[in-house]
Amino acid sequence: MDTKQAKQRFGIIGNNSQLERAIDVALQVAPTDISVLVIGESGTGKESIPKIIHQNSKRKHNPYIALNCGAIPEGTIDSELFGHEKGSFTGAHDSRKGYFESADGGTIFLDEVGELPLASQARLLRVLETGEYIKVGSSKTLRTDVRIIAATNVNILEAVKKGKFREDLYYRLNTISIQLPPLRKREGDIHLLFRKFAADFADQYNTPPIQLSEDAVKILKQYAWPGNIRQLRNFVAQLSVIEKERMLTGATLEELLPNSTSNTPVLFEDKNKADLSEREILYKVLFDMKRDLTELKKITFDLMQKEGNTELMNTVNPDIFNDMNEQQNIIISANETINKTIEVEESLSLFDQEKRLIEKSLLKHKGKRKDAAAELGISERTLYRKLKEFGL
Ligand SMILES: Nc1ncnc2c1ncn2[C@@H]1O[C@H](COP(=O)(O)OP(=O)(O)O)[C@@H](O)[C@H]1O
Ligand SMILES: [Mg+2]
Repeated sequence: MDTKQAKQRFGIIGNNSQLERAIDVALQVAPTDISVLVIGESGTGKESIPKIIHQNSKRKHNPYIALNCGAIPEGTIDSELFGHEKGSFTGAHDSRKGYFESADGGTIFLDEVGELPLASQARLLRVLETGEYIKVGSSKTLRTDVRIIAATNVNILEAVKKGKFREDLYYRLNTISIQLPPLRKREGDIHLLFRKFAADFADQYNTPPIQLSEDAVKILKQYAWPGNIRQLRNFVAQLSVIEKERMLTGATLEELLPNSTSNTPVLFEDKNKADLSEREILYKVLFDMKRDLTELKKITFDLMQKEGNTELMNTVNPDIFNDMNEQQNIIISANETINKTIEVEESLSLFDQEKRLIEKSLLKHKGKRKDAAAELGISERTLYRKLKEFGL
């Protein structure tokens, strides 16, 4: 199978070079047993990659099992993956084969692998390294020969940093990684996909396909598509059903597209988090300084008292000393309220933060709005509106 055939066979539309590269790598690694990690935002088409790999491997006549780790309840996931013995937990009336046993000789696709609980991650690492696993409630070591392909959205490294995903497992799964580009980076494919989906839905609903005017195509391409191809597909489905006028203008499309900035909070959220910790540290330093100052004043006060210099004492604001003993408590409770205070302040200054981000991005891209918008995950139109709003 070559790239073109793979696209045809698995209904993959698009000529983007990163997409083609992803398919190429999938075809190259297919004959081996190497683990592959598919990385891409939600809706970028990750699910076709493991299918391409399985179908082009020597395992293709054996089972292919696709599992969404985020959709299996934490309490039953080990039993589903590795099976259990009769009576191993309440309700386990019979023993059960796990997917790793059923898929022996085949391939398992673990979608949203970042959602796997830590205990299951340990079991998965073992089966990857040795081919061995143990059923829940059993002590007998069993063997299986399964190839693992996992998929994750781009946040897995953050999960590793937070200790929610084992680093060793991450590296083991990530022997080869295949990146799928977000739709906004596939500008040339957007209209192509739109036409394909419009034709599909027209067939399905027996109506003429939705078409776009020239300015509508422009708007379609400028939109950020935070939900990627899944969002585009659903959007075309919605248009196909509700729009009586089959030729859509830019103005209509603009009205129907959800506001892209409200759909891209991740960028700003991350930025806030970084600022928050920095600011928190600053607050702590300030409070420490204040405490030192109070102590210094206390020492001075004591000294003055010893010297009997009441005249000087009277020049010092008495309020400082009144709550001297409570100072420590105040500092503690103040520290506790910092978080709340910051939250309020952060949301108040979100406007400024966004403005700063946009300025930075424009500077970085030497004023090229298109590139800045792409980096910020907003459409060029939205960027333009924001620039006006910020008076930039
Ligand atoms: N290149 C593509 N061509 C046509 N349809 C696609 C393409 N990529 C994704 N899709 C469709 O978009 C939807 C989301 O794809 P999916 O693989 O489930 O995304 P992910 O797993 O990355 O969230 C599916 O309906 C899929 O068929
Ligand atoms: Mg998916």
